[in-house]
Amino acid sequence: MIILGIETSCDDTSVAIVKNGTEVLSNIVWSQNDTHKLYGGIVPELGARRHVQVINLVLKKALEEANIEFSEIDCIAVNNQKGLVRSLVVGVSASKALSLSLNKPLVPVHHIEGHIFSSFIENPDLKFPHLCLTVSGGHNLLVLVNNFSEYEVIGKSLDDAAGEVFDKVARYLNLGFPGGPVIDKLSKIGNPQAFHFSRPMISAPNFDFSFSGLKTHIVRKIDEINEKNISYKIEDLVASIQEAIIETLVIKTLRASEKYSIDQISVVGGVSANSRLKGMMVERKNPKTQVFFPSLKLSTDNAAMIATIAYYKFQQGIVGDLDLEVFSNHPL
Ligand code: KG4
Ligand code: ZN
Repeated sequence: MIILGIETSCDDTSVAIVKNGTEVLSNIVWSQNDTHKLYGGIVPELGARRHVQVINLVLKKALEEANIEFSEIDCIAVNNQKGLVRSLVVGVSASKALSLSLNKPLVPVHHIEGHIFSSFIENPDLKFPHLCLTVSGGHNLLVLVNNFSEYEVIGKSLDDAAGEVFDKVARYLNLGFPGGPVIDKLSKIGNPQAFHFSRPMISAPNFDFSFSGLKTHIVRKIDEINEKNISYKIEDLVASIQEAIIETLVIKTLRASEKYSIDQISVVGGVSANSRLKGMMVERKNPKTQVFFPSLKLSTDNAAMIATIAYYKFQQGIVGDLDLEVFSNHPL
């Protein structure tokens, strides 16, 4: 079965063609970073306009790269359940046009469900139940993935997601947008013990996160350093910030895997691309625990993950119709 997936939740316009759930024939991502970096963050209005401009080009490229004709597509899948509404509308409208003109079923998908299933594409050993840390700029959840469509959210950020801290710090330090990749790269040559930042909520008897206090603390620290003219190396500062964010994520995730006696963990979403997160998770995990990370292209937003989960949803009879709505944050 060949599924065409569409993802336009935020600042990436993506179309993918996936065969039988996990064979990615193409996965085109048109990043809008060049547009948004001028403003140091995502400007929703500009994002939606960019999606409108490029969606047809991205669609054409996805078909070309997969060497597939429209007539060979069996099903259309789209994220309609989490993201910036005006951006989602572009992808959902395109998916309805395709579904109607090709007379093929339309499968609605939740963006986070897509991220969760991104791990299945490259890791056939990953099974149910497993624990998933899904962490990006827009969400920060710990989910027990018991089966297809059976998710138990056991922890979530009460305010900001970890990716937002990376982006905010980078903006404050004029390091560019998005912040995660640049901080990750700089931190490799920095000393993560140079500054101390708190690990929020690691003593709380639950699996929730809270990053807004840390964000404020970091901004105050940077102001203090500048006011007092303290000399420091930028790589030491960002490595220390990264260490606090990553250690918080790792401690809570590993604690949850012990509490629920789950020995497979998958880490997904944009922040899963972080090299220190991979390193620390592997260093600290119990030897019997397996940890899975998607490759870079599948970590950040992409349409292959949307087509993958749609394959399983379609088998379960979950299909939408041309009245499909969009939701900024539908429950998982
Ligand atoms: O999944 P994603 O593409 O979009 C959302 O659903 O939000 O994630 C984007 C987020 C941004 O906050 C970005 O800074 C972060 O993922 N990110 C990283 C890295 N690469 C992307 N954070 C830390 N380290 C990275 N290497
Ligand atoms: Zn995402």
